[in-house]
Amino acid sequence: MPKPYTPNDAWSRRAAKEGYRARSVYKLMELDERFSLLKSGMTVLDLGCAPGSWMQYTVKRIGLTGHFIGMDVQEVKPVEGATTFVQDIMDIQGVSTLLAKQNIHSFDLILSDLAPSTSGVKDVDQWRSIELSQAVADIAERFLKSDGICVIKVLRGADFDSFLKQLKHDWGSVRTTQVEASRDRSKEIYVLLRKTKGRR
Ligand SMILES: C[S@@+](CC[C@H](N)C(=O)[O-])C[C@H]1O[C@@H](n2cnc3c(N)ncnc32)[C@H](O)[C@@H]1O
Repeated sequence: MPKPYTPNDAWSRRAAKEGYRARSVYKLMELDERFSLLKSGMTVLDLGCAPGSWMQYTVKRIGLTGHFIGMDVQEVKPVEGATTFVQDIMDIQGVSTLLAKQNIHSFDLILSDLAPSTSGVKDVDQWRSIELSQAVADIAERFLKSDGICVIKVLRGADFDSFLKQLKHDWGSVRTTQVEASRDRSKEIYVLLRKTKGRR
């Protein structure tokens, strides 16, 4: 018989104890505490939402008056208050069509904890992470409200600096940060884009 899954690090054990589906929830909690991301009544888009720990935390923070849309290439177990879709976010036209069908035109906050399926080749994984992050920035360009924030997790590699330079050119405000709960703090970096009024 296969052994039952036992979380083997402190963050995973804490997540299991507190009923969250993944340890990554503590990354979002830390970002929320530091940057006051989530508020009651917000409309939030979560890209790469499976298995759903960010979704569990976010629906609690935005409350009954908030709206939560999640997308992932994988099916996600439902969470009350959240609407999710199986959707490849690299297909930006597909994302746009799906949101139009839902009559959703903009978000206060866009979150991305997207991670490419690992190839085993470090440079390839980091390049795919940049590709996904570029798609998120394109989605944010179309769907983020003025003064809204977009949070993107990126695996830092050789292409990161030129990606960041482009973002700084295109966006009014760009910040980068790391969080305590990342397994590998040297590689995982969070980019925060704010759509400042009058830009884009
Ligand atoms: C680290 S997990 C996200 C964890 C999630 N934030 C949570 O708290 O449960 C990354 C997710 O990105 C998804 N993903 C990767 N590429 C994708 C794509 N092109 N479109 C949509 N989802 C994608 C994966 O299926 C995976 O579920």
